[in-house]
Formats: sequence, C-alpha cells, structure tokens
Amino acid sequence: MEAFIQCENLVKIYKVAELEVVALQGLDLAVQRGELLGIVGTSGSGKSTLLNILGGLDRPSAGHVVVNGRNLLKAPDAELDTYRRREVGFVWQQTARNLIPYLSAKDNVALPMTIAGMGWAEKRAWTQELLEAVGLWDHRQHKLAQLSGGQQQRVAIAVALANKPTLLLGDEPTGELDSTTAQEILALLREMNGRYNLTTLIVTHDPQIARAVDRVVTIRDGRTSSETVRRVSDVEAALTQNIEASASAPVYEEYVVVDNAGRLQIPPDLREAHGIGDRVTLEATEEGVLIRPVSGKNGRGEETAVTPDEKQSSQEPTEQIPWWRRWPR
Ligand SMILES: Nc1ncnc2c1ncn2[C@@H]1O[C@H](COP(=O)(O)OP(=O)(O)OP(=O)(O)O)[C@@H](O)[C@H]1O
Ligand SMILES: [Mg+2]
Repeated sequence: MEAFIQCENLVKIYKVAELEVVALQGLDLAVQRGELLGIVGTSGSGKSTLLNILGGLDRPSAGHVVVNGRNLLKAPDAELDTYRRREVGFVWQQTARNLIPYLSAKDNVALPMTIAGMGWAEKRAWTQELLEAVGLWDHRQHKLAQLSGGQQQRVAIAVALANKPTLLLGDEPTGELDSTTAQEILALLREMNGRYNLTTLIVTHDPQIARAVDRVVTIRDGRTSSETVRRVSDVEAALTQNIEASASAPVYEEYVVVDNAGRLQIPPDLREAHGIGDRVTLEATEEGVLIRPVSGKNGRGEETAVTPDEKQSSQEPTEQIPWWRRWPR
C-alpha cells in the first residue's frame, strides 16, 4: 500500500528575474497515515517550500508527489483548491496568518465551517468540541489581543481542524513561543494527531522536537538527508529497563537517508572531521561499507581513514555527542 504522503525526486525551482533558485532538489519522503513527523533543517533548506507543496499552496516543478491518493503535480487548479480547503489544515508561526483579530476565538473557529456550508447544529457542536479539545472553551468570547501567544496558537490549531482535515501542517507553529509554551503546543499537536488520526507534519527549529514526535526528518539543501526515530517507546522501555532512567531518556537513532538512486548526504561536520573532499572510495568491510577520503587533486583527504567508532574513542572529552545521536533524548 502506498504511503499517505509519497514524494519522489521532488524538485522546486523558483524563478526570480533572471535567477533560478533551486529550493528542492530531488527530495524523497514517505509519510504513513496518522504519522506525526518533525521536519528540521537550516534556514533556506526548503522546509516551507515542501509544506506549501504538500498543502496545495504551490506546485512542484518536477517529480512525484501524491497525498492520500491525489497527484498534486497533475491535479487541475480547481481540484487543488478543493484539496487545500477540505483536506488540509495549516498552523503558521505568525498569529496574523492563522486568526482574524476582531473575531472572538469561537467565531474564528466557526468561520471556516460557515464558508464550507456546514449546518448550524453541526457547526455549533464541532466548534465546542474543538475549543474544549484545545482547552479554551472558557475563553471562547476572547478576542486575539485578550489571549496569550500560546492560547492564540491553541485557537489556531482549532481553526486548522475546523474543516476536518486529514493532513495537518505546521510551519514553525512554536516559533514565537517560549520553550515551556512551545512544549505544551507540541504536546497538544500530538494529542490532536492521535485523537483525530491526522497525519501531521511540523516544521520547527525546536531542538526538543524529537521528544514530541514519532520521527524527525532533516532537510539539507532541498533533500532529506537524515532522520531520527524513537527506537523503543517509553512504555516498552519502562517494562524492560530501569523505569526512571527510561522515562527521562527515550532512545533515538539517527539514520542517514539513502534515496532511490542510492545517493546519501554525508553531514558537513563529518566531512570536515574526516577530510572528505568531493571524492571518496567505498570499501566493503565485514561491518558495512567504509567511506574513505581520497587525497590529491579533488579530495582533501588524509591517507588514513577513521571510522566513526575509532574517532569517537580517540576524542576528548568523551562526553561529546556522536554524530548519529545528535538529537536530544
Ligand atoms: N516565493 C519564492 N520565490 C523565490 N525564492 C523562494 C521563494 N520561496 C522560497 N524561496 C527560496 O527557496 C529556498 C528555500 O526556501 P524555504 O522558505 O523553503 O526555506 P526554509 O527551510 O523554510 O527556511 P526558514 O527556516 O528560514 O523558514 C530559499 O533559498 C529561498 O530563498
Ligand atoms: Mg520556512
């Protein structure tokens, strides 16, 4: 069965005057129905571009993108419009993009339902359910200025769910919040993801994101480069190991993504540390494939290759976080 979101070799080129900016350059990504995915990456790496394409706000230049069985590259404009209105909920970083300031929280949540032509009784019940779900039913008459930043994002989440979407996209929804409030909003997104079986993608710069989601994908230069997966659920870990330690330290593994053509990205810090230029040799060893820098014209490599394990053991201080476990645990 195909994944809920399937991107293959996705390319997005923006043309500005005579210049072309390649925002996505052959991105591959598969997301299962109901998955809660974090997306991280440096500024300009293509995160918003990807979200805009998945939400039907923008079209890719080439490649393959299917969401819930719908081909977003080939869908006619009218179909893309309907898709965006009915199947996608957005939560943006800026409140002004999520909410209408002169309406109350309740009216903000009800507005998309009115536009969609939802019946009066259903609208009333669904507005109440959503405002209760985000913990703001008591604040339903408050306007934007009478709510804190975190509360505004709670309303924004309710608004995003008003049209009963299957896909929820958050572009830095916690970007303007302090870290405690940000964790609360991430927890709420997780709760909504489970309660309404939403496939949820959250773009963030929050280093704590791995704690809040099932999987974190890193985008580098318009391609998925690595991903971090929670290896054992806290509950499972608690049953088999020290309960206190496992509750505070879930186990994460970071993988480097290999695309359909067999390409992988070696992170810049590793390239630097191992003197890897633009050429390497690959050697099959008993443990796996050893990537060895090449010295000379195109490589900057030294003669001796160092495997990550050897490198780790020879480094001081030993506290240093290994490259494959950079995410907070
Ligand atoms: N509408 C546009 N027109 C031209 N270039 C664009 C447009 N939108 C994005 N870009 C360019 O595409 C690249 C990717 O931008 P994008 O906004 O997707 O990055 P991002 O990962 O979301 O960054 P940030 O973390 O700063 O939000 C950047 O080089 C950006 O300048
Ligand atoms: Mg962005």
